[in-house]
Amino acid sequence: MSTEHPAAGPGVVFDLTGRTALVTGASSGLGRRMALVLAHAGATVAVTARRTERLEALAAEHPAIRPFTADLALAAERERLVAEVEAALGPLDVLVNNAGVANPKPIEQETLEDFTAMVEINLTSAWHLTKLFGVGMVAAGRGSVVNIASMLGVVGATPSKQTGYPAAKAGLINLTRELGLQWARRGVRVNAICPGWFATEMTDELLSTEAGVGFIAANTPMQRAGEVHEIDGPLLLLASDASSFMTGSILLIDGGWTAR
Ligand SMILES: NC(=O)c1ccc[n+]([C@@H]2O[C@H](COP(=O)([O-])OP(=O)(O)OC[C@H]3O[C@@H](n4cnc5c(N)ncnc54)[C@H](OP(=O)(O)O)[C@@H]3O)[C@@H](O)[C@H]2O)c1
Repeated sequence: MSTEHPAAGPGVVFDLTGRTALVTGASSGLGRRMALVLAHAGATVAVTARRTERLEALAAEHPAIRPFTADLALAAERERLVAEVEAALGPLDVLVNNAGVANPKPIEQETLEDFTAMVEINLTSAWHLTKLFGVGMVAAGRGSVVNIASMLGVVGATPSKQTGYPAAKAGLINLTRELGLQWARRGVRVNAICPGWFATEMTDELLSTEAGVGFIAANTPMQRAGEVHEIDGPLLLLASDASSFMTGSILLIDGGWTAR
């Protein structure tokens, strides 16, 4: 089979015109940014989270963004979301599993409920949505799943002591590899982005103190936290045909944290 294509500019390679996408956790931070980026690249973008008013404000910013409220910690809400999004948009071309929470505390203070809550939102919900939306993607023979994991799924979190979050993110990384393999011949690609420290609501507390900013500057080779726009390129790469030979890949966007 010939793989030769005429060379084209970035506008063509990353174009998402006519594609459908869902971004979870789009009411703030990276998810909000990624929804806007996909919409500006031409996709019709469903956005979900619990805070409806935030989703509606986001939808008012771009005509291609459609809000769907759901609590992704609940299996029944995930099932309802999939039915509503597919009824509105048809099968997805791009699924961005971004919703996540962290709850740092050492294991002595962590309860079983804390641990299972971390796994439910950071891993199980991504597994469940990928399984449910995957039916339509595999039937259509095309799709891109982008899992937002974390560098803390690759290395330990301490001195930010916690076990549920890094364990769940490590699970999400290997779920990415396994599904990349299972669907490699079905036209559906599954890849992950692992952010380092980014300034969002999740890191508000840390980044609002001098000590927190100093800790990140001292321990990140690039000496700073990332800014949300620095996720645009990796996202567009994985969401679009620009990454047509990538599956099971794990992209670290961490200012060099894990390179040491
Ligand atoms: N910021 C960082 O430094 C960093 C580093 C590595 C990885 N990450 C990952 O990047 C992703 C985005 O995080 P962020 O930094 O943008 O944090 P954020 O601003 O706190 O955003 C988290 C998003 O997840 C949603 N969410 C949380 N629980 C949910 C639930 N039960 N149901 C539905 N939605 C839920 C939140 O919406 P509602 O509250 O409205 O439901 C919000 O939109 C997460 O997976 C996070 O683990 C972030």
